[in-house]
Amino acid sequence: MKKIELHLHLEGAAPPAFIRSIAAEKKIDLTGVFDERGDYSYTDFDDFLRCYDGATSVLKTPRDYARLLTEVLERSAEEGVIYTELFVSPEFCGEADLSAWRDYLAAMTESAAAGRKNGIDSRAIVTPLRHLGHERAKKTAICAAETAGEWVTGFGLAGQETNGKATDYMWSFDCAREAGLGLTCHAGEWVGPESVRQALDLGVTRIGHGVRAVEDPALVAELVRRDITLEVNPGSNIALGVYPDWASHPIARLADAGVRVTVSTDDPPFFHTTLRQEYDRLAETFGWGDTEFTQINRWAVDAAFCDKATRDRLR
Ligand code: ADE
Ligand code: ZN
Repeated sequence: MKKIELHLHLEGAAPPAFIRSIAAEKKIDLTGVFDERGDYSYTDFDDFLRCYDGATSVLKTPRDYARLLTEVLERSAEEGVIYTELFVSPEFCGEADLSAWRDYLAAMTESAAAGRKNGIDSRAIVTPLRHLGHERAKKTAICAAETAGEWVTGFGLAGQETNGKATDYMWSFDCAREAGLGLTCHAGEWVGPESVRQALDLGVTRIGHGVRAVEDPALVAELVRRDITLEVNPGSNIALGVYPDWASHPIARLADAGVRVTVSTDDPPFFHTTLRQEYDRLAETFGWGDTEFTQINRWAVDAAFCDKATRDRLR
């Protein structure tokens, strides 16, 4: 099945072997990033963010990012993905300096063009990190607004959701909206319904995760009424302990309530998952088949941050 993926962090998609080979080239010590089997090693979400930062620390140049994007797009294409949206952060690419960000972007755009020739189209969602705070996010929003266009088509907030409120980032989201970018925000992963409501107040059309909206039936009804799309990452939620197992994951309940759910992998090597595996588990756990998978991919196309011609091609 041809798949659309809306929620994939570029650094979070880096295979451990890729990070190790760049670390070896640059002679960077990665103690604490991998376990003895060579997998990413972390204990909880804060520790995941530490491990993620550690792995990302080897990516230092535009060329490193171009190589990473090439590798990630190849892997996604092997999963049957024909269109993917990647969270990319100017924080990691030149510390949110606009001129440095343009250099990283130029390198990544070449990899994206090569991916398109190989059958996988992509777009970038520029992402501030909540644990760095809202003042810092303004620089990232300016990078996003100044480079909005062909590849950069979205703006979203990731990182530690327990740090402040989404609405603290209103200035940055307004700046991104004025530049014509699509808006999404991680919410309802680590904090409950009130966090999803705050994200909605930013004027987003999509929510990253959003699954804990299920705790408030009035909010679920509002998501349906406003045609909000959830970028759901079930394997990520289970690996990080948001839910204990697949049977308790609310994706099927949200879909049954009429919420536009889509399925993505978030940071697949960190969670030992792939998009195929996510689909297989959904089929096993909830009996999902062609009807449900076709529906979630239609919803993903409807919500994608791309132009109409691309959307028509994906349909
Ligand atoms: N960055 C990478 N993965 C993330 C997640 N699951 N939640 C918030 N920020 C992230
Ligand atoms: Zn995410």
